[in-house]
Amino acid sequence: MGVTARTPLIAGNWKMNLDHLQAVATVQKLHWTLRDAKFEDGSVEVGIFPPFTDLRSVQTLIDADKIPFALGAQDVSVHDSGAYTGEISGAFLAKLQCRYVIIGHSERREYHAETDEVVAAKTKAALKHGLVPVICVGETAADLEEHGAAAVPVGQLRTALSGLDAKADVVVAYEPVWAIGSGQAATPQQAQDVCAALRQVIAEELGDEAAARTRILYGGSVKSGNIASFMREPDVDGALVGGASLVVDEFAAIVRFQNHVGV
Ligand code: PGA
Repeated sequence: MGVTARTPLIAGNWKMNLDHLQAVATVQKLHWTLRDAKFEDGSVEVGIFPPFTDLRSVQTLIDADKIPFALGAQDVSVHDSGAYTGEISGAFLAKLQCRYVIIGHSERREYHAETDEVVAAKTKAALKHGLVPVICVGETAADLEEHGAAAVPVGQLRTALSGLDAKADVVVAYEPVWAIGSGQAATPQQAQDVCAALRQVIAEELGDEAAARTRILYGGSVKSGNIASFMREPDVDGALVGGASLVVDEFAAIVRFQNHVGV
C-alpha cells in the first residue's frame, strides 16, 4: 500500500497545559503565525487537543474567526450520560463541535489503568457520537526489548478495531512510550515499519479500503527538526505532537513541514 491522497494531520496534544485564557491566546497566535507564513489551508489538517475546560472557549474562537483548525478532546467516557462523576460524554464533545478525541493515550493507560478493552469501548463510544477516535498505541521500552517494536501496538490496535464497521472513520497514532516526552524520537524507519504493520491490521480488521484511507500518525518527541523525515515515510500520515505543540512558532513550523528546505 503506497502513498495515497491521505491529507496529513498534525495534531497538538496539549495534555494538562494552558487554561482557557491561555488557550485562546495560543490558538489566535497560531492562526496568525500560519496566516503570515502563507500557510495554505487544506494541504495539511491542523488539530488542537486542549483540556476539557478550554474546549468551549476555543470552539467559540474558531467559529467566530473562521479558523481552519479541527478541535479535539483528550479523552471520552464509555458512557452516554448518568451517574459517572467527573466523566465527559461524547455527546457533549460533539455539541462543542469536536471532530476528534484521543483514545488510549499511554498516559491514560499508565496512570488511569486503561486496558485494551476500555480503549475499545471508548473507541465505540466516540464513533457512536460522531467523533473520530485518535486511537493511540505503542510499546514501552521493556516491550521493545522483549517483543520488538510492532507486537504490542499491533495487538492493541487489533483489540480497538475488532467488531467495528468497515466504514468507521478512525485515526491511529503510533507512539512508542519510550519516545514520549523523552527527546528521543524513533527513527523514521522504525516509525515506518510499525506504521506499515498497523496498516496491515486495519486491512485485516476493516478491509483494504479502510487501510488505504485511514491516517496513521507518529508521536513521540516530534519537533520542527525531525517532522519532515517522518512525513517522507509512506505509511506516516501525520504527527501527534505533545510538548512542541505548546510553543506556537515550533508547532507552526511542524505544520509547515512541506516548506522545509533541504529535507
Ligand atoms: P511529546 O508527546 O511530543 O511531548 O513526546 C507526544 C504525545 O504524548 O502525544
